[in-house]
Amino acid sequence: MALPALPKAELHLHIEGTLEPELAFALAARNGVPLPFADTEELRAAYDFADLQSFLDLYYALMAVLRTEQDFADLADAYLERAAAQGVRHAEVFFDPQAHTARGVPFGTVVEGLGRALEGAEERHGVSTRLIMCFLRDQSAESALATLEEARPHLDRITGVGLDSAEVGHPPAKFAEVFAAAAELGLRRVAHAGEEGPPEYVREALDVLGVERIDHGLRAMEDPELVARLVRERVPLTLCPLSNVRLRAVDTLADHPLRAMMDAGLLVTVNSDDPAYFGGYVGDNFHAVAGVLGLGPEEQRALARNSFEAAFLEDDEERRAR
Ligand code: HPA
Ligand code: ZN
Repeated sequence: MALPALPKAELHLHIEGTLEPELAFALAARNGVPLPFADTEELRAAYDFADLQSFLDLYYALMAVLRTEQDFADLADAYLERAAAQGVRHAEVFFDPQAHTARGVPFGTVVEGLGRALEGAEERHGVSTRLIMCFLRDQSAESALATLEEARPHLDRITGVGLDSAEVGHPPAKFAEVFAAAAELGLRRVAHAGEEGPPEYVREALDVLGVERIDHGLRAMEDPELVARLVRERVPLTLCPLSNVRLRAVDTLADHPLRAMMDAGLLVTVNSDDPAYFGGYVGDNFHAVAGVLGLGPEEQRALARNSFEAAFLEDDEERRAR
């Protein structure tokens, strides 16, 4: 029998990126939405990405099948079941409201559907949860502010805000105003930075947006002074190794800087990003890096400990989750 999976928290997970081809086709049939793929095999064959943008094009297109509260609840419940099976005890789930409201799906439909699945997750799957809404950085700052306004009636369901989508050319400072407004509302703050963008974007996310964690942060390794600061301030970096290979942020898994980042004293965690698209859930990411980078049980336990330290959990919740 397989050993029980190492208990861990997942902190970098886009719920829309958990849409498996089978569920995409089921929802397409349920909602009468046509898909430009004959079957799941043809869809899977399209998961061959040159960079972040080529992935995002398919990721946004496939969201067309998500229409009702039930669709969002089913999507989240399917993720939670898979995550729990791979040892996830706590999940901080990103969603992209603008990708849905732009298609005419109301904010409330999205957040209430996701919220329904998440509030049942403790009982159904033994997973505690938080919900983080991300602003699309290739949309305008005004659109992000309008989205924060739409979120106001639903803030009991939302723990924090993040920043995702096409990075290069959209520096964090573009979103200074909306992040300040989110902080005023008591929301926690994170941002993708240093996935494809330069180390300067990591610095800006910390200094201008006031984020508590950096999502990815790979390219911080190009800047020793920045690395020293991240170590000193114990800023968590939510790494996603299989994503980095699939989106060609690194050439191969063997080239991934995870071990170098651990050795530098950085507070790094391992996550799945968009597991339906990138070849695995968080346990698969652990398994892959452990094999290729030669991480032993103690190093894997250190990564799992980091994930609870970096989570937005209260102390008593953290003890229970571990
Ligand atoms: N990077 C930026 N935006 C995203 C990603 C990612 O890996 N996945 C979903 N939105
Ligand atoms: Zn991401």
